[in-house]
Amino acid sequence: MRLRSGAFLLFVSCFFQAVAAVDRPPVAAIASAHPLATQAGMEILADGGNAFDAAVAVSAALAVVEPYSSGIGGGGFWLLHRARDGFEVMVDGREKAPLAASRDMYLDAAGEVVPGLSVDGALAAGIPGEPAALDHIARYYGRLPLARSLQPAIRLAREGFVVDARYRKLAQFRQAALQNDSQAGDIFLQAGEVPDEGYRIVQADLAATLTAFARFGTAGFYRGPVARKLVDGVRAEGGIWTLDDLRQYRVAERVPVQAEYQGLRITSAAPPSSGGIALAAMLNMLANYDLHALDSVSRTHVIIESMRRAYRDRSIFLGDPDFFPVPLKRLTSPAYAGQLAQSIQMDRVTPSSSLPGRDSSSGGRDTTHFSILDGAGNRVAATLSINYPFGACVVPAGTGVLLNDEMDDFSAKPGVPNVHGLVGADANAIEPGKRPLSSMSPTFVESDEGVAILGTPGGSRIITMVLLGILDHAAGNRPDSWVSLPRYHHQYLPDVVQYEANAFDEDGVRALAALGHNLKQLDSGYGNMQAIYWDRSNGQVYAASDPRGVGDSRVGLFGRQ
Ligand code: DON
Repeated sequence: MRLRSGAFLLFVSCFFQAVAAVDRPPVAAIASAHPLATQAGMEILADGGNAFDAAVAVSAALAVVEPYSSGIGGGGFWLLHRARDGFEVMVDGREKAPLAASRDMYLDAAGEVVPGLSVDGALAAGIPGEPAALDHIARYYGRLPLARSLQPAIRLAREGFVVDARYRKLAQFRQAALQNDSQAGDIFLQAGEVPDEGYRIVQADLAATLTAFARFGTAGFYRGPVARKLVDGVRAEGGIWTLDDLRQYRVAERVPVQAEYQGLRITSAAPPSSGGIALAAMLNMLANYDLHALDSVSRTHVIIESMRRAYRDRSIFLGDPDFFPVPLKRLTSPAYAGQLAQSIQMDRVTPSSSLPGRDSSSGGRDTTHFSILDGAGNRVAATLSINYPFGACVVPAGTGVLLNDEMDDFSAKPGVPNVHGLVGADANAIEPGKRPLSSMSPTFVESDEGVAILGTPGGSRIITMVLLGILDHAAGNRPDSWVSLPRYHHQYLPDVVQYEANAFDEDGVRALAALGHNLKQLDSGYGNMQAIYWDRSNGQVYAASDPRGVGDSRVGLFGRQ
């Protein structure tokens, strides 16, 4: 009997191995916001690394060549899927508030928010999580040593990269703040001015910091000489970091948020991101409609109304789950969404002011997302940030580390919007050691037919961009369509539908306005989506980078894996 069940088990495991062996993509794919970062990932895959090693390499390279978007002075969320056993996890490397932070730290004596205090300068910086996350991913999920996967980034920091039009635009936007910090100004400006196209940004101190990190792992950043220079630099510029803050930083592994929509399984970011919950809520509301059967104005109307309701809940209920009891089950349940959907009226808007709330829009210019699929079927969706372009615009002397201004993602005061126009309350109030609420939404969408990997920067608009991408996927379209389709967005407050120039035609604008929508066409596009789709039905892999950015997506064998 024993033998027979053993033989049976052997048969079962052989069978599953055979199935698993078939269920592999024919090629690997990387889509990232910068060609040099995609190149770094390909180099690591070619060297025998898996998708997780490549994610370390791409993250670190982006930290060097997209200094306005993310970096080792910032944080992010890395959503991982391990092919071998289907294990899925979100590595939470989100910044934490320093231990000396307090609820009213950005308010003046009269209790008003001091403009700029949570955006520019050392007081705006949370304790970075990216180095801890990269070390964690390499150690527990990668095949190569951390030091190997960091090599391309170290090389790029030492040898420099060339300024392009995108860099110039963002440096221009933050020029005044960069001029205020001598280190940041020296590294990222050219004699105090926006560098010319073709100018080479060399980051020798960052190369040295990355080298210490490669050599000593987290101890090379969170302890020792680098940590001391970081703390000294922050305190010299009015910040409140201590060595304890750095020593105590730990990544968290979070269970991703899951939802179902029309036979698709959506896996996305867990709190302290609001992304997965808001996506689940919107998709659950939309499941009450046959979107394809609706005319285009009615379809847009119900999508906007679902955005409004999900963002209203975001402002009240979402924050760091280690500090606030986020009602995840209720907010992601189809029954609750059904109740919300019932309040949607087809012939008129529901003004946000009529939805009970609590005193509670950004450029898509910065922050970064990348997607990776390797030849074994491992996948990574990662969205990383230092928040505003060039973060806090502070580099502590001798470190080369550009600090984030992620503290602005907290609600500095109930009802007062942050740089992304978002409002919040107690759930997202500042507390020592707490992580600010995020909108970053790295996402997988899976069915028997295929696997999608997507995400984007864009502040508060990240979640609705991912929603539109998922709906476009559900409608049968491929990544090139998800990344380029015209976008629109509603976030509860302000009670406005923001839309890209070509999102609606004139009749559509008129019809939506007649329903009571307050429409605002944006001057420029937003977002920078990087997406991959592995179509299991025909064995093809597709990758696409948002035409609004300069990203680079590649599909190929990239050597052995
Ligand atoms: O975590 C967040 O939600 C923000 N810090 C992301 C910022 C962002 O995407 C800026 N890009 N436009």
